[in-house]
Amino acid sequence: MDEPNAQAVQALRADLTDAEYTVDRLTEVLGPVPMAALAREQVLPAVRAARSAGPDPAALLARAFILGDTLSPAELDTALPRTGAAGAKQLGLTTGPTPVRGAVDLRPIDTAAGEFWLAADLGEATTGRAVTGDHVLGMGGASRTLAELTLRHPVGRTLDLGTGCGVQALNVAPFSGEVVATDISARALAFARLNAALNDVPLDLRAGSMLEPVAGEQFDLVVSNPPFVITPRAAGITEYTYRDGGRRGDDVVRDLVTGVADVLAPGGVAQLLVNWEVRDGEGRFDRIQAWLTESGLDGWVIQRESADAAEYAETWLRDGGITPDRDRDAWERGYAAWLDDFADRGVVAVGFGYVTLSKPDQSDGVAPAGPARAPWHRVEEFTGPVTGPLWPTIAATLQAKDALAALDDGAFAEQALTVAADVTEERHYRPGSAHPEVIVLHQGGGLGRSVRADTALAAVVGTCDGDLSVAQIAAGVAALTDTDRDAVLASVLPQVRELVLDGFLLL
Ligand SMILES: C[S@@+](CC[C@H](N)C(=O)[O-])C[C@H]1O[C@@H](n2cnc3c(N)ncnc32)[C@H](O)[C@@H]1O
Repeated sequence: MDEPNAQAVQALRADLTDAEYTVDRLTEVLGPVPMAALAREQVLPAVRAARSAGPDPAALLARAFILGDTLSPAELDTALPRTGAAGAKQLGLTTGPTPVRGAVDLRPIDTAAGEFWLAADLGEATTGRAVTGDHVLGMGGASRTLAELTLRHPVGRTLDLGTGCGVQALNVAPFSGEVVATDISARALAFARLNAALNDVPLDLRAGSMLEPVAGEQFDLVVSNPPFVITPRAAGITEYTYRDGGRRGDDVVRDLVTGVADVLAPGGVAQLLVNWEVRDGEGRFDRIQAWLTESGLDGWVIQRESADAAEYAETWLRDGGITPDRDRDAWERGYAAWLDDFADRGVVAVGFGYVTLSKPDQSDGVAPAGPARAPWHRVEEFTGPVTGPLWPTIAATLQAKDALAALDDGAFAEQALTVAADVTEERHYRPGSAHPEVIVLHQGGGLGRSVRADTALAAVVGTCDGDLSVAQIAAGVAALTDTDRDAVLASVLPQVRELVLDGFLLL
């Protein structure tokens, strides 16, 4: 694969910098309403706003590379004075010569890790045409979700598996010593190479399927938004490399979840977006739970959505540009193929969620030395809104689970805990009663959890001020309620552990 022309890339970087081609500047030039419409994949308000901004370079760039509008050669010169028509053509950015049209989507992206430019294929919202099987995705909703889940502490080696245009690799680069990014698609890797050069970020890009290109290596962090879409292998069904790994059912994801331990260094973490099938007669989490067990790692699954077989077929037919209005025949053929494929394996629903896997590091003085402890697993559903990046919650939970694993109940009872700043308590009373009927602890941040507490637990939590140990607080509660200290301790300890894990209480 050819390196993009270094001089042309340098000129482009300088032009995009001078044009202030940033998310803030675009919001300023286009306005918040067109920007919001753009986020809903509606380009018209932004096209109108960009045209009325005249020769503003950021607006011209948005017209050519986000909005599917045409520019005159003079306008292209204003937008990209150093790169020029020849440089833009050489980098594969434009078709033309007159009028000039963007051949790729090129836009500023902001993530929790900072801002960078990202080139990818133009999407359906811009071209008005269904995308092709070799389409290279820009930053979609799932890409942003993973970017905002990704841990941000400094690490040595990071792997981005299925990098596409390189969005996750660029997101992790600021805190990774080295980033290896893999993909099966040569087109995707060409975009990733251009994006790495444009943002002046070194990426070790490798071609190959799933874990093959990194066999025998170890990483501290693995991130992957893999091709998880379950697709029938039937005549007439387009196979989209960007979303479908070409295997049967959820095999691609199963192999990744169960095999990623091979490339994780001790203390390493893998963060994956996944789909899993729910088969007739099985519990909705049975399959993903079995994968966690097979992985041998600590594992946490957060299911965000689930779809029944019909909903799933509709979602992915529409994603491929097939709708009943456009082509009823294709819609019905595709729909039937999905239902047949699901029926073959008895699939009744598909779960979607985030998987975090971690390999305990028994040499770090945190995890207990000696025989390996049983892996920690948690599988849960969270369908509420996520109000900010989730990575701080993921990081805190992983840290808490390792710290808790190192403390047996005796040692844990000696800990002095504090209540996290975002915790509030709600009490409900029956009319006229002095004693609350229901007590609920609420968490303001993170996953915004709510936990029912009995009077003893609420009293313990309310007294966790960082001075008294859990055992001392339990003794105080026992004296007040005229009960046995050990009985209070035995009843609250498991719940207090869960509250530490969930971030209500801090060690
Ligand atoms: C959903 S896209 C994710 C792209 C990007 N990482 C992101 O987060 O937006 C999945 C990527 O996996 C790649 N892919 C498909 N099959 C693959 C395979 N067998 N091995 C490795 N990558 C594959 C696709 O080319 C695509 O770039």
